Amino acid sequence: MKNINFYLVTDTHYFEPSLGACGKAYDEYMKREQYFMAESSDIVKATFNKLAQDKSTELVIIPGDLTKNGEIESHKGFIKELYRLKEAGKQIYVITAGHDYGEKSRAFVGDECIEVEGTPFEIIPDLYRDFGYGNALAVDSRTLSYVAEVKEGIRMLAINCDSPDKQKGSIDSELYEWMKIQLDKARSDGCCMFAICHYPLIPSVPVFDLVGDAKLRDWRKAASFLADNGVELILTGHMHIQSINEFVSENGNRIVDVCTSCLVGSPAKYRKITVENSVMRVESLDTPPFGIDTNGLTLQEYFDRQFNYSIKNRINGALDGGGIKKIAKKILNKITVGTLGRLLFIKVDKSIKKVKFIDLAGEIGISIFKGDMPFVEGNPVHAAISRFLKRFRFIIGKIEPKLSKNGAKVNLTEMLINTIGNNKDFSDNNTEIILGGNK
Ligand SMILES: [Fe+2]
Ligand SMILES: [Fe+2]
Repeated sequence: MKNINFYLVTDTHYFEPSLGACGKAYDEYMKREQYFMAESSDIVKATFNKLAQDKSTELVIIPGDLTKNGEIESHKGFIKELYRLKEAGKQIYVITAGHDYGEKSRAFVGDECIEVEGTPFEIIPDLYRDFGYGNALAVDSRTLSYVAEVKEGIRMLAINCDSPDKQKGSIDSELYEWMKIQLDKARSDGCCMFAICHYPLIPSVPVFDLVGDAKLRDWRKAASFLADNGVELILTGHMHIQSINEFVSENGNRIVDVCTSCLVGSPAKYRKITVENSVMRVESLDTPPFGIDTNGLTLQEYFDRQFNYSIKNRINGALDGGGIKKIAKKILNKITVGTLGRLLFIKVDKSIKKVKFIDLAGEIGISIFKGDMPFVEGNPVHAAISRFLKRFRFIIGKIEPKLSKNGAKVNLTEMLINTIGNNKDFSDNNTEIILGGNK
C-alpha cells in the first residue's frame, strides 16, 4: 500500500443533549449501557479539538454508529462538529450503520423515555455530502456503499453492511458484484484500495466466531474476496473492542482488520495509523478529558466503572425473579473465586481466592474489549480457567457439535483459552505490521 496517514475514530454514538438525557428512566437505562450517552457530545467535541491540533494528519475516517440511535437532531449536532473539524483543515470520510437509522430513536425527559424523530436512510448521502458522498467516485444507491479517492492513487471502499433492507452485518450478492466492479476499476486505474466497514471482518476474539452479530455474516467469504481482489487493510468498529487480526485466503492473500473501540465508552480509544514504505504503524490513543468530574478516578477508570456497572447489572438482570434464580443471584454476588474452586474441586491460586467471582467476571469482560488479553499461561486466571475447562471437558464435548456450522469443527476449549490470552504476534493496540506481501 502507498504511504498514507489518518485518524480512525469510530462508534461516536453522538447524542444531541438538548433532546434530554436525565431522570429516572435515563438512570434505569444507563444501568445496562456500556457507554456514555449524556456526555457523548462533549466527548466528541474534546476529541475533535485534539485531532484539529495535529497538523501532521489531514485525514479522519469514521466507520459508523455515528449517533446514539439515529435521532435526526443527533445527526445535525454531529455534522456541526464535523464541519468544525473540516474548517480546521481535515478531510473526513464516514459511513453509517444500524445505529444511524435502524434503531428506535428516543430521549429521556423528566422521568420518562420518549420517542423522538429518527432519520430516514435515504437522506444519509445528502446529510453527509461533505464527508464522503459528495466527492465519491461511485455510490451504490441501494446500500450507500461508496468509493472515494482519499489521496492520489489511494482509494477507499466504504462498505455499508448494515443497510435497512438486508440482514444486519451482511454483504449480499449484488453488493459483491458492485464491489468487484470497483475493485477491478481501481486496479486498472493503477490505484491501491483499502476498505472500511462497520462490522468487524474477522472475529475480534476467537469466541466471537460463535456470536452472530459480532462480525460480518459469512466472514471468511468476505475476507477471501477482499484479500484476493487487492484489499489488504480494512478498518472496522461495531463491537466496541480493540482488536487487530489477520486472515489469509486459500490463494495465500492476507487481509488485516483493525477494529477500534467505541469513542464514548470503555475502553474509549481512537487510533492514528501511518503507512510508510509498506509498514503500517498503529497507535492507540485515549479519549481525551472532556470536562467531567471523575471523583478522583482516572478517566480510564471512570469509563471502566460504567462498563463494569453495566456488566454486573446485565448478569444480575438475567437472574431477576424468584425461586432458584433469587438464590443463584444471591450466591453469585457473594461467592469468591476460592469458594467456587472448592465447590468444583478446582485448584485456585491464592492471589485470586478472595476475589468475588462477579468482580473477576467483570474484569475479564472489560479486558477482552481492551485487547491484548493478559490472561496467558502462567497467569492465575488462565490456570483456573484451564482447570475448569479440563474438569468439564465431558460437557464441553457435548456442546461443541451443536456449535459447529457447515461441518466445521469447533474446539471450544482452545477458543476460550485464546480469547482470554493474546496468542498473536502483534498487539491489538500499538503495533507495526508489514503490508504489501499479496500477489
Ligand atoms: Fe456501536
Ligand atoms: Fe454497531
